[in-house]
Amino acid sequence: MLGRDLMGVLPPSFPDEEVIGWDIEEIDIQKEEDTIAQIKKLGPAIVIHVAAYTDVDGCELEGEKAFAVNGEGTRHVALAASRCGAKVVYLSTDYVFDGNKRKPYLENDPPSPLNVYGRSKLKGEHYVQEWVKGALIIRTQWLYGRYGKNFVTSILRQAREKQVLSIVNDQIGSPTYTVDLAKAISVLIRFDANGIFHVANRDLCTWFTFGQAILKLSGMDSVKVIPISSKECGRPAVRPSYSVLNCQKLSKETGLTLRPWSEALKEYISTLAF
Ligand SMILES: NC(=O)c1ccc[n+]([C@@H]2O[C@H](COP(=O)([O-])OP(=O)(O)OC[C@H]3O[C@@H](n4cnc5c(N)ncnc54)[C@H](OP(=O)(O)O)[C@@H]3O)[C@@H](O)[C@H]2O)c1
Repeated sequence: MLGRDLMGVLPPSFPDEEVIGWDIEEIDIQKEEDTIAQIKKLGPAIVIHVAAYTDVDGCELEGEKAFAVNGEGTRHVALAASRCGAKVVYLSTDYVFDGNKRKPYLENDPPSPLNVYGRSKLKGEHYVQEWVKGALIIRTQWLYGRYGKNFVTSILRQAREKQVLSIVNDQIGSPTYTVDLAKAISVLIRFDANGIFHVANRDLCTWFTFGQAILKLSGMDSVKVIPISSKECGRPAVRPSYSVLNCQKLSKETGLTLRPWSEALKEYISTLAF
């Protein structure tokens, strides 16, 4: 999802550079030797590492695979990049936090992931910090975009099938449009930023209020939405009840503030065919 939007945003932002996108067919990051050989052969200046096992409940049920892809896979990418002197931009997650702070998380707040996905992505952060000098780690959250399954498309699909939807109302975060995130990544690269940055669309909501906004903007607000608790929802992976990211470091260092999630959602929905 993010990778394909990056391939739309980066080439016009860096017209003098060659931007190459690889998917799992070109590079399986679980394979250490292949990953190192592939990246070495290309000799890039920057590796933007967005590949991951992103199914949060899947990770809970397949812990070994989660760590093989998100942890060890990231080690292979970091090792390969360090061998050819490339910078690494690594995408990480709000799920490295446990939610107990109840105030927007800063980059230097101590992580304490509640689920396997968060732990495996944090492992990835540690490998990147260990192997790559000047690496950039971008933590983001609640992504949706044009290229892939996401909460918005899932709500719209369910709304076509049912008259009543139940949506979790005790998790707070900031839905983030992958196009806006891709643009922020290009700005951070231009500023040669390094260290950890939090990047998300502005303002916060619960999945329930996000769901209501999706239905309203799609003209489907005749569908009834019932707020439920995470416990009632009964997903395998525990999620933080509050994982809003403080993005002031991004604003201070680059002048960029992402627009409110409701504006981004409106634009995204206008691109969908009903
Ligand atoms: N989605 C979110 O809400 C969210 C929130 C916070 C952070 N992030 C992070 O942001 C990044 C982008 O997320 P996204 O939602 O765009 O993810 P996505 O759509 O699931 O894309 C991840 C890609 O990685 C590929 N992949 C999986 N295993 C691989 C392997 N062993 N080698 C190479 N490629 C592999 C996947 O291929 P297959 O589809 O074939 O498996 C998929 O194309 C990820 O690092 C994610 O952890 C996402």
